[in-house]
Amino acid sequence: MSTPAFCIQPDSASLAYAAADAFDAAAMRATEARGMFTVAVSGGSTPKAMLLLLATPTFASRVNWAKVEIYFVDERCVPPEHADSNYKMANDTLLSQVPIPPGNVHRMRGEIDPNEAAIEYGRMLKARFGDGGVDQLWLGMGDDGHTASLFPYSPAVKETHHRCVAQHVPKSTTGDSWRITMTAPFINRAKEVIVLLAGAGKAERLNEVLYGLRDPERLPIQLIQPASRNMVWMLDAEAARLVKH
Ligand code: 6PG
Repeated sequence: MSTPAFCIQPDSASLAYAAADAFDAAAMRATEARGMFTVAVSGGSTPKAMLLLLATPTFASRVNWAKVEIYFVDERCVPPEHADSNYKMANDTLLSQVPIPPGNVHRMRGEIDPNEAAIEYGRMLKARFGDGGVDQLWLGMGDDGHTASLFPYSPAVKETHHRCVAQHVPKSTTGDSWRITMTAPFINRAKEVIVLLAGAGKAERLNEVLYGLRDPERLPIQLIQPASRNMVWMLDAEAARLVKH
């Protein structure tokens, strides 16, 4: 991996605060410079605290939400009102609480045929970004080294062309399920990639990902190497226990 940058916080509360701050700072920079901020968010438990904070008046008032476009890194193939839906999590915590125009929220349609939904999303990304990527993209990492819905040894890990694919994952965090996911080639076009990790459970795997042998089929997060070289690992002290810095 290219020289990693770390932002290490003492606990999960300060991590969420630092993450919300990084979101707001990027939103303010991009809207001032280009009149628009495009950001992609992941599912899972870690981003929840950040999204909740972003909805609070202190953070929410700093952002011109009319100029923010939200994209999804991945989605579980369930309807948008299902408890497993990444869209539902983002909507309940943040999107329903801030004045973002509905047309600026680009969700993956988990309720339709997964392959069709992936093709539709990929076309939309191509139309909006051409050969480029989003301004800021947030990832998590599963205990097995997956990121987005790029699971170990799954076909999506080998994808080199499409921006978005669907796949059946027998052992995902939501059990045997279908997922839609942005691919590493598209993720790597983001101007900034931030990996948000909290908790002791992440420390050993992170150590292997950062300092072990390169084996992206087994550790898909090793595929994440943005062309911008702008990648930050935002960690709490427990997740950062084995990080050399
Ligand atoms: C998802 C994800 C996934 C997630 C990791 C980490 O939809 O499940 O986007 O890649 O980010 O599994 O999840 P936690 O934050 O819950 O550990």
